[in-house]
Amino acid sequence: MDKIVIHGGKKLVGEVMNSGSKNASLPIMAAALLSAEPSRIENVPDLRDVHTMVKLLRVLGAQVDYTNGVVEVYPGNAIKSNAPYDIVSTMRASVCVLGPLLTRLKEADVSIPGGCVIGARPIDLHIKGLEMLGADILIDHGFVKAKAPKGLRGADVYLGGNFGSSVLATANVLMAATLAKGTTYIEGAACEPELVDLAEFLIKMGAKIKGHGSHLIEIQGVKKLHGANHRVIPDRIEAGTFMVAGAMMNGNDILVRNCIIDHNHALIDKLKQSGALVLKSKSSIRLKRRGRLRPVDVTTLPYPGFPTDLQAQMMALMTLTPGISVITEKIYPDRFIHISELTRMGAKIFLEGSTAIVSGVGHLSGAPVMASDLRASAALLLAGLAAEGETEVNRIYHLDRGYEKIEEKLSALGAEIFRKKEESQKELAAVAL
Ligand code: UD1
Repeated sequence: MDKIVIHGGKKLVGEVMNSGSKNASLPIMAAALLSAEPSRIENVPDLRDVHTMVKLLRVLGAQVDYTNGVVEVYPGNAIKSNAPYDIVSTMRASVCVLGPLLTRLKEADVSIPGGCVIGARPIDLHIKGLEMLGADILIDHGFVKAKAPKGLRGADVYLGGNFGSSVLATANVLMAATLAKGTTYIEGAACEPELVDLAEFLIKMGAKIKGHGSHLIEIQGVKKLHGANHRVIPDRIEAGTFMVAGAMMNGNDILVRNCIIDHNHALIDKLKQSGALVLKSKSSIRLKRRGRLRPVDVTTLPYPGFPTDLQAQMMALMTLTPGISVITEKIYPDRFIHISELTRMGAKIFLEGSTAIVSGVGHLSGAPVMASDLRASAALLLAGLAAEGETEVNRIYHLDRGYEKIEEKLSALGAEIFRKKEESQKELAAVAL
C-alpha cells in the first residue's frame, strides 16, 4: 500500500484550485440511471469513489465514459437491478442506486453497504422512505430486495432520524419520487448543498421539484425523465480542508479558488473566532495565520451546522491552539479514531462519550501514523504539515477516495510531501532472495 511522507514545518503559501464535489458527483451519477437517455456530468473529481461509481454503473448495464473530469452515462434500456456486494461494500454511497433502480425498473436488489470505522451507519431511513412510496422491501442474504410491481406512488415521507436528517436517504427518496405517481412531500429532508445540486440535476432531467435546500421538499412525479447536462458544484469539504491548512501555522497564506463561500459559513465562523484571517471574494477565499490562535468549541450538526466531514481536520488545528478546545460530534458519535494517531504525534486529547477535549500543545512531532478513514487521513496530513520532522501517513487509499491530486496541490503551496509506492510482496521476495 502507498504511503505519504511529509517533512513538516514548511509554510504553505499560494493558490490552490478546489475540485468538484465528490458527495454531489456520486448521487448525480446514480441519478443518470433514471432515464434511458445519455447524461453528461462535468467537474467530476478524479477519485477512487468516482471510479467505483463508474464501475457500478457499468455492472448495472450502463455505458460510461469518464475523461478529463467529464462523466458521460448512457444507461439505455437494458439496465439491471442487481448491485453486487463486491462493489457496494467498498463504497457506502453505492446505496444511492437503490432509489433510481427501484423507481425505473420497479425492482432493485442492492447489497447492504454495512458499517465502517466512523460508526454503524444503518439504512433504515432509506428503507422507511421507499416503503412509504409503496415498495415491498425485504432484507435477504445481505441484500435490500425492493419491489413495486405497480410502480411507486407519492406520499408524505418523514426522514428525520436520531442523528438528524440523512443526506443519502433524502437523495434516494427524492430520486425515487421523481417517477412515482402523484406528489411526494419529504419532511425532515436534509438540506446539504450536495442534495440541492442533485435536485438541480433532476430538474434538468425533467423532474418537478420544489423546496430543495429546505426541510420540506415537494416532488410531483412525472412519467419519464430525459438525459441532461450538468456541472457539479465545488467540493466544500476539500475547500474547508485547505482553509484549515491555512490556519495551521504562523505565516501560512492560502487562496482557495473555485469555492462557494455560502457553503462554508460554519467553518469560516469558527476560523475567524480562532483568530485566523479570512478574506472572502466571489468564488475564492483566502486564509492567513498571523500570531497565536484562540481556542474554540465546535459541535457537528447537519447543514448549515459545522460539518462532521471537517471535524477531524478542525481537531488537528485545535491540537496546536493554546488553551482548551472542545469538539462534540452529533452526527457520528464514534467518529474519533484519529485521536489515537494525533496523540502519537504529541497531541493532548481526552475523549468523554462523543465529546473530545483538546489541550493545545506547543508543537507536534512527526511520527508514522495510520489513516483510518477519509477525513481522518486529511487531519493526519494537516498535523504532519505542521509537525516537526517526518510524518509517514499509512493506508492512504482512504485519502485517494476523496482528495484529488492532494500531494500535487500541497507541494505547489510549498509543502514537502511525496507519495512512497510500497514495494509489492513480489519485489520484497526478490530482494530477500
Ligand atoms: C453523507 C456523506 C458523508 C457525511 C454524511 C453526514 C455522501 C456520499 N456522504 O453520508 O460524507 O459524513 O452525509 O453529513 O454524501 N442514519 C440513520 N439511518 C439511516 C441513515 C443515516 O440512522 O438510514 C444516521 C447515520 O448513522 C448518521 C446520520 O444519520 O448518524 C447522518 O447520516 P447520513 O446523512 O445518512 O450520512 P450519509 O448520507 O451516508
